[in-house]
Amino acid sequence: MQRAVYPGSFDPITNGHLDIIKRAAVMYDELVVAVVTNYSKKPTFSTEERIAMIKKSTKGLNNIRVTNFDGLLVDFAAAEKANIIVKGLRAVSDFEYEFQMALMNKKLRKDIETIFIMTNYKYSYLSSSMVKEVASLGGCIKDLVPDSILQDIKNKFKD
Ligand code: PNS
Repeated sequence: MQRAVYPGSFDPITNGHLDIIKRAAVMYDELVVAVVTNYSKKPTFSTEERIAMIKKSTKGLNNIRVTNFDGLLVDFAAAEKANIIVKGLRAVSDFEYEFQMALMNKKLRKDIETIFIMTNYKYSYLSSSMVKEVASLGGCIKDLVPDSILQDIKNKFKD
């Protein structure tokens, strides 16, 4: 049984995240989508809201589990008996930070590997913060996030 962890802030989940989830899910027996709670940037959506939106977006994918974690990612992965961390890689701007995190995680626990999946070109410049900015200014976010959570995001920025 090979289990992998896909961590992130998912504030909120985007179509870019969902694409990585679907592609990783076929590679492992179980993919644990892990929402970070002790995040330095204050999230717009609560942990519960972020988890609920991921669950809605991944309905029908049966080897996905959605949960939250705090503390070190490698400790969470080890507790879940997962020896793989999946990360999505977008434009070159992601590389430096992801490289640093992967090396630090490897230093902390050498039995856990970080695997990178290149983003679908359609989503290479898509980010949760961009989605939030567009939504907060009344722009159209269709095609950027799963249809099932469009209304949840619009509701958040209604006022
Ligand atoms: O979606 P994000 O914001 O790129 O996710 C970042 C995340 C959650 C993967 C990263 O902040 C993380 O792993 N946090 C847990 C704390 C940790 O383990 N830090 C040491 C690794 S450098």
